[in-house]
Amino acid sequence: MNAPWTAIKDLPSAEGQEVTVKGWLYNMRSSGKIHFLQLRDGSGTVQGVMVKQDVPEELFVVAKGLWLEASVEVTGMVRKDERAPSGVELTVTGLVVLQNPTDEYPIGKKDHGIDFLLDHRHLWLRSSRQQAIMRIRDRIIWEARSFLHDDGYLLVDSPILSGAVGEGASGLFELDYFDEKAYLAQTGQLYAEAAAAAFGKVYCFGPTFRAEKSKTRRHLTEFWMLEPEVAFYGHKENMDLQERLVCHIVARVLEHCRPELRMLERDTTPLENVKPPFHHLQYGEAIDMLHRLGSETPYGSDLGNEDETILTQQFDRPVFIECYPKKVKAFYMKEHPENPDLVLCDDLLAPEGYGEIIGGSQREDDYDRLLSRIREEKLPEEAYDWYLDLRKYGTFVHSGFGMGIERVVAWVCGLQHIREASPWPRTIYRLNP
Ligand code: 4AD
Ligand code: MG
Repeated sequence: MNAPWTAIKDLPSAEGQEVTVKGWLYNMRSSGKIHFLQLRDGSGTVQGVMVKQDVPEELFVVAKGLWLEASVEVTGMVRKDERAPSGVELTVTGLVVLQNPTDEYPIGKKDHGIDFLLDHRHLWLRSSRQQAIMRIRDRIIWEARSFLHDDGYLLVDSPILSGAVGEGASGLFELDYFDEKAYLAQTGQLYAEAAAAAFGKVYCFGPTFRAEKSKTRRHLTEFWMLEPEVAFYGHKENMDLQERLVCHIVARVLEHCRPELRMLERDTTPLENVKPPFHHLQYGEAIDMLHRLGSETPYGSDLGNEDETILTQQFDRPVFIECYPKKVKAFYMKEHPENPDLVLCDDLLAPEGYGEIIGGSQREDDYDRLLSRIREEKLPEEAYDWYLDLRKYGTFVHSGFGMGIERVVAWVCGLQHIREASPWPRTIYRLNP
């Protein structure tokens, strides 16, 4: 075969030419005289039409014997076809079977339960729904990174193995590290703060780990977090950056991922609303609103998932909840200048019930206050020597936040559960595949 190997997505510009497609048999229908081979190669899908009288007889027989997901090289002429989603189909002239499975593909057309699908995640990723989700995930990450890069942020990666606790002693994965204990990073933030003192505007982006036994549709034990950290930004500038970033991501997904959103049957109207200004509620206002709506969460407590859901349903776009009580938030957050029981922080809640997608704060930049917070939380002081140094040598107002990628993907795609937002979801009950 010397017809040029062509990606399915590029077939519309190869109309009238003979090409080779390398991929998998996604579906097949036969009329006796014609086989309709649905082919996919990861870039798209195309229908190959094999007419009995136009190909050698043995080829027609071989095609009939293919199981779904056989790997194949198909040669054919690209022809215009108004009915095809991409506008073209292939008139098949040649077929090389790379491998024909020996039995039926496990994921068939019938409905499978979620556990079966998750057990077969390695195969499930081939389905058109999962392809749409992964393409949107790719777009979200790409746009987030290019937004920051274009705005002068430097990517400075943070370690995954660490001797210091990032967010709180509960929810840590601990492991033996030669003669000491190490933890899997819950956040890259503390390192991003050091990098901000070196480079000004930075971010880190990597996998983070939480050993929380949360069985909600919002929690994974491993997830990817994008964490900008900015020197000389206060609480307000921090929220402005979050708003700009989220608006940019959603606008670009709407611009580039229409076919994927359609595949997911995502109603895009709520996404079109994601424009500045977002709503803002102080923590106390949020509690009052929740009480009016029937929640019994007392003033002083963290908001539960249910509370977040209720709040987001009151607004047509994302909402910031600002300045939570100090005792429900992490040790590094800066005390509120007018109320020592509160901290200068924000959670950004996504609409339609999705809840928290970002957690951010201005950081405590005073050496003595930070040290007393570390002591109050009974964190091992020695492990924070280097972090305290940042307050000793040229301390500076600074702020940052963490955006959970899977939370954003779940919201933008309109998923019922966060597990579909990760190619290889990790939850308390799932470590495989
Ligand atoms: O609010 P969190 O815990 O904040 C931090 O870790 C800060 N150190 C970030 C920073 O300021 N640099 O987590 C931030 C975000 C949450 O808003 C959520 O989107 C996501 O990370 N997240 C999770 N996503 C999936 N599963 C979990 N178990 C998550 N926990 C947090
Ligand atoms: Mg949070």
